[in-house]
Amino acid sequence: MDKLIIKGGKKLKGEVTVSGSKNAALPLFVATILAPGLNEIRNVPFLRDINTTIKVLESLGAQVEGNGHVVRINTSGINSHEATYDLVKTMRASVLVLGPLLARFGQARVSLPGGCAIGARPINLHLKGLQALGAEITLEHGYVEAKARRLKGARINFDVSTVGGTEHLMMAAATAKGETVLENAAREPEIVDLGMMLNRMGAKIEGAGTDTIRIQGVSELSPASYEVMPDRIEAGTFMIAAAMTGGDIRINGMKLEHLDALAFKMQDAGVEITSRDGVVRVKGPKRLASVNIKTRPYPGFPTDMQAQFMAMMCVADGASVISENIFENRFMHVSELLRFGADITIEGNTATVKGIKKLSGAPSMATDLRASASLILAGLAADGTTEVTRIYHLDRGYESIEKKLAGLGADIIRVKE
Ligand code: EPU
Repeated sequence: MDKLIIKGGKKLKGEVTVSGSKNAALPLFVATILAPGLNEIRNVPFLRDINTTIKVLESLGAQVEGNGHVVRINTSGINSHEATYDLVKTMRASVLVLGPLLARFGQARVSLPGGCAIGARPINLHLKGLQALGAEITLEHGYVEAKARRLKGARINFDVSTVGGTEHLMMAAATAKGETVLENAAREPEIVDLGMMLNRMGAKIEGAGTDTIRIQGVSELSPASYEVMPDRIEAGTFMIAAAMTGGDIRINGMKLEHLDALAFKMQDAGVEITSRDGVVRVKGPKRLASVNIKTRPYPGFPTDMQAQFMAMMCVADGASVISENIFENRFMHVSELLRFGADITIEGNTATVKGIKKLSGAPSMATDLRASASLILAGLAADGTTEVTRIYHLDRGYESIEKKLAGLGADIIRVKE
């Protein structure tokens, strides 16, 4: 198993380029099931979750060829309608194959994903939506079995904003008979990306990125070539790395408009953020100021940036109140940040962070993807040496993060444990 060793205290400087978005790429890969033939996805990040998605598609009978960041997926030969426990347990998003398989073949069997470190994460709204589209759903021995001759359009109102649920039903409804309207739909940029790829395949989807998505079902979709949007969470993580180290960096390839909520809060904390010709410059202040955040569905403050923002508040002047409103158990990084000398208390879904002058390097353990990122950030800003173990979590969602940070002048290496 690999671990990271960081010698903190270097001000980050220079340029870094953001990779394609993990959370956009996963549903785009799955959507190819709906379009038999040779699809091409470009700007694919090199990540463990992408490899898992490829394994899922191959297990269904698709042929996948990777050439660096361009992946070609031939879905003509899909002959299995089942995603097994082994695959779904390693990556929850694999459950998204249920709707597309059902839409194309009239049947599908997919393992239930179960909970994960950050919360219970049920898929009840995915299943309720598929039922509204006419699917017959049964749950047996930890598997969801779905059947439908042809799905039929319906009006679906989500109880809570769900990114995966919205994506799942957009895919299932694309080839349903008649019109589907998704109300209280999630509005994340990754949903817009999926809508654009499905439309390129011949779907008729309007309103992706708003809370009402209208889908006119078409009889079939054809293969497409599509470029994945940049990873906004990776970009946000670099922004915080610059801010926390008093650095001055330029980030290429990111879309600042996807990170308004984060950027406004960082500016309140005293960070300079400017954008010119598609390059975003982030300059940290001498001393950060404390600000409060509440995580919300997009365009609110992203839960996927909460851990990193908390690491930054650990060295800000004053106290910051951080509320996590999306996942019930997304504070596992707190006990690890305490090892660096941070002053954090938790009550329910709220953490109060009292900023200190300097963190001190510490041995720490990654517990989930974004928690891992927060430990790296703490290590970059701390005095002394930090070790981050269990970084397989990190490899799920950050492409070569240690190389990119080293390119900005950080003293960070990956070693075998
Ligand atoms: N929820 C339900 N029922 C459902 C679906 C969701 O109660 O049927 C609840 C969840 O338990 C959660 C809330 O609704 O409390 C929001 O969950 P959502 O469905 O939006 O999350 P997701 O689709 O499972 C995606 C990202 C997450 C990100 C969340 C929120 C992917 C593959 N994952 O998850 O990313 O945190 O949206 O923005 O897109 C990460 O990248 O580290 C990560 C966890």
